Order: sequence, then C-alpha cells, then structure tokens
Amino acid sequence: MVTPITSSPEWDALRRHHEAIAPRHLRELFDADPGRAAALTREAAGLHVDLSKNRLDGSTIDLLVALAEAAGVPGRRDAMFAGEHINATEDRAVLHTALRLPRERSLVVDGTDVVAEVHEVLDRMSAFAERVRSGEWTGATGERIRTVVNIGIGGSDLGPAMATGALRPWSDRSLDVRFVSNIDPTDIWEATHDADPASTLFVIVSKTFTTLETLTNARTARQWLVDALGDDAVGSHFVAVSTNDTEVAAFGIDTDNMFGFWDWVGGRYSLPSAVGLSLMLSIGPDGFRSYLAGMHEMDEHFRTAPLAENLPALLGLVRVWYSDFFGAGSHAVLPYAQYLSDFTRYLQQLDMESNGKRVRLDGSEVDAPTGPVVWGEPGTNGQHAFHQLLHQGTPLVPVDVIGFVNSVHDLGDHHDLLMANCFAQTEALAFGKTADEVAAEGVAADLVPHRTFPGNRPSTTILADDLDPATLGRLVALYEHSVFTAGVVWGINSFDQWGVELGKKLATTLGSELMGDGALAHDGSTNALVEHFRANRRRG
Ligand code: F6P
Repeated sequence: MVTPITSSPEWDALRRHHEAIAPRHLRELFDADPGRAAALTREAAGLHVDLSKNRLDGSTIDLLVALAEAAGVPGRRDAMFAGEHINATEDRAVLHTALRLPRERSLVVDGTDVVAEVHEVLDRMSAFAERVRSGEWTGATGERIRTVVNIGIGGSDLGPAMATGALRPWSDRSLDVRFVSNIDPTDIWEATHDADPASTLFVIVSKTFTTLETLTNARTARQWLVDALGDDAVGSHFVAVSTNDTEVAAFGIDTDNMFGFWDWVGGRYSLPSAVGLSLMLSIGPDGFRSYLAGMHEMDEHFRTAPLAENLPALLGLVRVWYSDFFGAGSHAVLPYAQYLSDFTRYLQQLDMESNGKRVRLDGSEVDAPTGPVVWGEPGTNGQHAFHQLLHQGTPLVPVDVIGFVNSVHDLGDHHDLLMANCFAQTEALAFGKTADEVAAEGVAADLVPHRTFPGNRPSTTILADDLDPATLGRLVALYEHSVFTAGVVWGINSFDQWGVELGKKLATTLGSELMGDGALAHDGSTNALVEHFRANRRRG
C-alpha cells in the first residue's frame, strides 16, 4: 500500500498551519497586508482569478504546492497528457486534452496518432453541421431541419446542453436545439409534441449506446417519427454519437451517420468530442473550434505553468484546503451570468462523479474527506434564495463566483448592477458587519445579533472580459483540471464512476417487477413501495 498523503510531512505542515490561520479573520488578514489582493490574484489564459478573499495567505499557497508535489501532481499531469493509462480501474488513457490539440500536433498513443483521428471526426462533424445549417441536409420530405433534439444523459447531455445555453448569442436562432435526458415520458413529450417531424433531426448521444434512459427516449422518438413519416425516413432524421458502432447499427442508424469517439474520453469530459455535435449545429464549426482553442489554451497553461501560478492547480488545492482542513462539506459555484444557468449543474457531474470516491487507487479507504457537494445557481437569483445561509448560516461554504466585465447585450445599467451584486456578495461574505457596526446604526439591542454578519466566509472571484466560445472553453478546462488536481492529492481515480452501477442494475429488476405482479424479494421498504405503486398505477 502506498503511504497515504495524509501521513506525509506536507499534510502535517498544513494541519499546523491551519491551526494558526483558522482563527484569523479575513478582516485581519487584509489589514495586515495592504498588498494582499495583488499578491493573491493570478492572471492566465484570459482569466483573472482573485484568491485573496480565501482563508489563506502566501504561505498557505506554498504549503499546498508542496503537498501537490508530494502527492505527485506534476507527474500524474504529465502522464495524463502523454496518454498513459492513468484510469487504472478501467485500464484506459485519459485524453480529453487530445480532443483540443491543434491539427498540426501529433500524439501517438498505443501506436495510433490520436490527433489525426480527432481532426478527421471534427472535419466530418463540421461538414455535417454546415449541411444542416445551410439547408442542404433535408428531412425525408425535402424540408430543411428546424429542430434538433439531442437525446443523451449525464455527460452526453449536460455538457452540450450547458454550452448550447451559454453560447446562445453565437447560435443560429432559426435552429431550435432541444435536449432530452430524463426517462420520464414528459421530457421526450415536451421536446416533440410541438415539433414537425418533417423538419426534426434527432442526435442520439451515448458513449456506450446501452444507457437505458437514452435508448428508451430514442426508441420513443423513432416511433414518433415513423408514425408520421414511415420507416424509410429514419435515415434522414437520426444521427448517432457513440463509441459503439455495433449497437448504433442494431438501433437502425446508418453508421455513415455516426460520429465516433474513443474509450479514452470520459463521459463528463466528452463535450469537446463528437458529443458536442448539437453545440456545433447551434453555433457552427467556427464557434466550436474557437471553444476548443480556449480549452487548449487552458490545457497548455495547466501543463506548463508552475503550480503556484497555475490556475487549475490552485483552484483544486483550495478545494482540498477547505474540504480537508476546514471540513467544508460543500462548495458553491455562482455564475453571475444568466447564460451560464446550467454551468453548475454541469460541474456537479464533472466534480462529483470524478471525486465522489471513498477508496484510493490502491483500494485502501481514504482517511480524509474527498470531493464536496457542488451546488449553486446563477447570481443574482441565488441571493434571493439561499444566500441567507451563506452569510449567516452555520456551515462554512466556500464559494466561486464567475463574472464577466462586459455583457453581450449591454442594456442600460443592467450589467453594472449585476456585477455590483457580484462584488457586493463577496465583500459581505468576507468582511461581514460587526455587532458594533450594527449597534452604531441605531438598531435595537435585541435585534443586533440577528443583523450581525460574522463574515470570514471565503470566496474566489473568477473574471473574464467576455463570455464567448473561447472563454467558455477556458472555464470548462479550468474546472476539469482543478478536479484532476484535487483527485491526485486525494490519491483517488477521478476517471471511473462505479458508484452509478448498483442503482442501474436494481432498476432493471425493479422495472419488470413494477410492470408485473410476481413475488418481491427486496427489503421491507422497497417491497411496500412497489406494492403501493402496483395497487395505484392506472394503465390505459
Ligand atoms: O451512469 C453514469 C454515466 O455512465 C456517465 O458517466 C455518463 O456520462 C452517462 O452515464 C451516459 O453514458 P452514455 O454516454 O454511455 O450513455
């Protein structure tokens, strides 16, 4: 068994440092060092990241960097970029970074130049997207495509849905791109009931092409189309994105209309692969390539910058700092941008499916917390909902706020007021309002405790000039690599997801039990729930 990082001198040094810094208020840390904001702000790859409102100082960064080095972050990072099989439990390379390598680069993995393969697929996607967008690709009756329905779940939905929403200003608004993920029949119904089959294209996205939700939705979509246009129409209205051509063909989609990717692309890291086809249909090939270029810029920064200047590494290490030393069980990500409405939902899979692990790579149980719960909503909406807890509640919730200096729709004073709220929140979280300050405003003594803000609540502010395809790419890669960094420190495999398997298996058994009347052999609660369902289920 490898010696756990928690037994290292670097961990111990951080523990002692935590004891010294935890009692210090952010007010005190700012008063003690007028240069603090500048010293703890980093700029790279078009992002401005202010770490100064965190419960740390320069020496914390040094100690966290030492921890990352002791945990082998630089070596694991290099191994990932080189295509080594760092996903040990699935014996796979982890090469989402290869999806955004420029055409002229080469990366030979297991005897194949993966960059050439990546660009071959990108070129096919681009040609297809151009045909659909120009109207050259038509449905079976000769009508151009007006509605695209992406059917997928998890990484085959969250990434494309998030990015398509985020980049709406770059989209062709004559193409209505919809997303269906839930096996709940209402999801596919809502996506199809007002669509015209003759002008609808379904993009079925599934790495494995065996996912129950996706195949169930795809079959219903197929039936909807066939009912209107007949069997022969399927070829013009269905394309697939998958690694599994056998299952795609078995479903009835011509593999000429399939866009492939590779087992070294994890589902939650797959947006820059063919999984991004619906995004490309929406924003066009140039926009998609700009998104990839932004990701590549952040990849290069992560690959080459010293850890103390390395944005993803620092974000990942700050995550470790709060999870393990402050015992923070959750982390909020609050984008001050309505177009990033789905960004936190997307990050939930990226982070929690990656780092929600309880055993290390060698199978031993971790002895310190790993990935926290990630949650959040776009600002300013969250302020009128859950920020009460952030300011005055009992849990410590570190926060990332993401904001933009400019707005794509600059209407009156909206954007300045949005960003005023963003900065006001982190200021209030950090510095609060003391009881003396409250009393000095003439507040009645019995109300003073209620109106006091303790402050000392940490936040990281991430700013970019504009929300555009390249910036979105930089942001996504920033978080991908921060998740990686934290995972390496914890010694876990951030690239498998065995935790989703048991529920899937049980659902298969329960599915036939709900539809039948056979004997049940579950626990008392599950048996009773199934019986209640059977007794009250109306069948048409
Ligand atoms: O169940 C989890 C998961 O495997 C995710 O990791 C993945 O993104 C999602 O399901 C969808 O998988 P697929 O693309 O194979 O349908």
